[in-house]
Amino acid sequence: NEIYLGGLSGTLPKYPVDFATLEARAQQAIAPDLLNYVQGGCGDEHTQRSNVEAFHHWGMVPRMLVDCTVRDLSIRLFGLDLPSPIFMAPIGLNGEMTQDRKGDIAAAKASASTGVPFCASTLSNTPIEDVSQASGQTPLFFQLYTPKDEELARSLISRAEKSGSKALVITLDTWLTGWRPRDLNSANFPQLRGKVLENYFSDPVFRSRLDRPPEDDLAGAVRQWRAIFGKVLTWDDIAWFREATQMPIVLKGICHPEDARRCVDHGIDAIYCSNHGGRQANGGIAAIDMLPAVVEAAGDTPVLFDSGIRSGSDVIKAIAAGAAAIGIGRPYSYGLALGGAEGAAHVLRSILAEADLLLAVNGYPDLASVRKAGLKDLRCSI
Ligand code: FNR
Repeated sequence: NEIYLGGLSGTLPKYPVDFATLEARAQQAIAPDLLNYVQGGCGDEHTQRSNVEAFHHWGMVPRMLVDCTVRDLSIRLFGLDLPSPIFMAPIGLNGEMTQDRKGDIAAAKASASTGVPFCASTLSNTPIEDVSQASGQTPLFFQLYTPKDEELARSLISRAEKSGSKALVITLDTWLTGWRPRDLNSANFPQLRGKVLENYFSDPVFRSRLDRPPEDDLAGAVRQWRAIFGKVLTWDDIAWFREATQMPIVLKGICHPEDARRCVDHGIDAIYCSNHGGRQANGGIAAIDMLPAVVEAAGDTPVLFDSGIRSGSDVIKAIAAGAAAIGIGRPYSYGLALGGAEGAAHVLRSILAEADLLLAVNGYPDLASVRKAGLKDLRCSI
């Protein structure tokens, strides 16, 4: 309403309301090497493109004569009542997306103002304690890249838990970095001078492992932490995590239904179906195409989803495919670059406004009815 009425009275929206315009504007605003990092993916980026394009071969069928004057987008997850089904996916070096290098704080403020949870990355430019404060009343999640050093892993987890994080998201697909030509062909973050990765560097266990103070630039920082980061996890490690935290445990990067079944066998609290936005492995299958099989294998275990969500209709399609909550990635990062907390909040609100309108015009008053209706695979039939 706000945007339509503004348009009628000649006021343009301050930020774009669709992804294509958002990305085009962000391309102008973000320094080239940083843009490579955020926009780029693995190999020739075929999987990354497929993640987005695959949404086009799934469709919803509208229902008529249903009273949808009141719509309900709320969900219940990890025992929390959330006003909408979206959350901000973890993005390392988020901080760099704003001029003051406090992009994680801006994301947390967008979370506070929209009620959309933020999942803070291990690789935040800001310590989790500060991010948590900026999130206000909205629940915060913490994403872990597991260090080889057990005591350090325990410290990162317990700092997140003590600062009020409501879920531990363990990313499985990134114990090393994928083949990313855009980064490899560029001078790789020459502009990243000054404090980076502060969540890591502020950790007392991390600091105790260094023989000298943390280096200021990213290259130096990576040299220093390389030996410590990147534990190769197997199913045998799950019991350790369970013992290390009371937080619900979410495994991120599950795309195979057999892995989803193993998550259920291991009592995982939520399965996070994602291929890291095509940043880790090229030559894969679009994440949305794997979601129905993962949901089926997951049974009653909630399935979170990201990779390729660009709009409100993508959100609703992923819900129809059975996801319990949907991660927004690159779009909010571009929002941060254009307008900090306000820009990110605008992106989230635009996605939610489109999702809400879609429910209205499609005749689905709530997410349960969307799930019940399911999706049509347009490659098979009409
Ligand atoms: C990511 N992603 C990510 N995931 C994670 O678990 N920890 C991290 O630190 C990061 N860092 C990160 C940086 C950047 C620049 C991007 C774009 C992504 C992956 C992220 O959580 C999510 O899976 C993808 O962003 C989903 O793909 P789309 O929808 O953004 O294309």
